[in-house]
Amino acid sequence: MKHVISVHDFTAEQIVTVLDNAENMVEIAKGKATSDLLRGKVLACIFFEPSTRTRLSFETAMNRLGGGVVGFAGTEATSVVKGETLADTIRMVSGYADAVVLRHPREGAAKLATEFSGVPILNAGDGAGQHPTQTLLDLFTIRTEKGRLENLNISLVGDLRYGRTVHSLAYALSKFGNTINLVSPEGLEMPNEVVGYLKDKGMFGKACHTLDEVIGDTDILYVTRIQKERFPDPVEYKKVAGIYRVDPKLVSRGPDDMIIMHPLPRVQEISPEVDTLPQARYFNQAFNGVPVRMALLSMVMGGN
Ligand code: CP
Repeated sequence: MKHVISVHDFTAEQIVTVLDNAENMVEIAKGKATSDLLRGKVLACIFFEPSTRTRLSFETAMNRLGGGVVGFAGTEATSVVKGETLADTIRMVSGYADAVVLRHPREGAAKLATEFSGVPILNAGDGAGQHPTQTLLDLFTIRTEKGRLENLNISLVGDLRYGRTVHSLAYALSKFGNTINLVSPEGLEMPNEVVGYLKDKGMFGKACHTLDEVIGDTDILYVTRIQKERFPDPVEYKKVAGIYRVDPKLVSRGPDDMIIMHPLPRVQEISPEVDTLPQARYFNQAFNGVPVRMALLSMVMGGN
């Protein structure tokens, strides 16, 4: 049973193996080559929270490998609205499929699901917890763009408190030897648990509230959205919404070979004028979800 719940499930060597396998999947992901690697297998994608990239790239990955997909996007048309528990939902779905991709608003839901599943569970985001498959595609993007996964200055920007992608990414980057800066508004700082981990590993750069303090020395600017849906009080959200805006002027103050990443969706934190700059990599990053998820699916479902 090969669940994918947290980036802690992977050693650095295992991450490199996933990325190597993903590289071999790129032509298939683009539809330029075909594969029947997962023919006869069924993937269940069950999403209790909205998603565009994660769900569709998992589904594309499965289809490109010749397998089938079942699932739901939103619980409105499912027995969850009748009161069915997550445990029972997982018991049912794991009987219908060879692996389950789960997104859920509650932190720890994916881990809990493993207790009731007879097939591998892949965590597609559990509340403000982790998003390990996003992290693997982020690392794939970094390796593709920079040629390495180590000795980089990475600035994580935005909602570091509730943003699960930055939690997973900070942990994963620590496995390779990097300097990680944390830029967030007051009140949305990276959780102490993650900061402590970075310090213990000697990966902590600086924590600050403005981009000015890091932009001149950043190899990778990893921007995230303020997670409106996780704020208990909408007034608090309004205080920080739009606090950062990456625009061409800001980008011009970074190193020429700096790249800009974002897990997407973006709201207002990157201006559309940045999209055409050579530094912008977030749409390539989103595509990379397909080959990386192809590699993961083939690994957990017994393919190559
Ligand atoms: N990056 C990401 O998780 O996007 P979605 O919410 O659209 O899946």
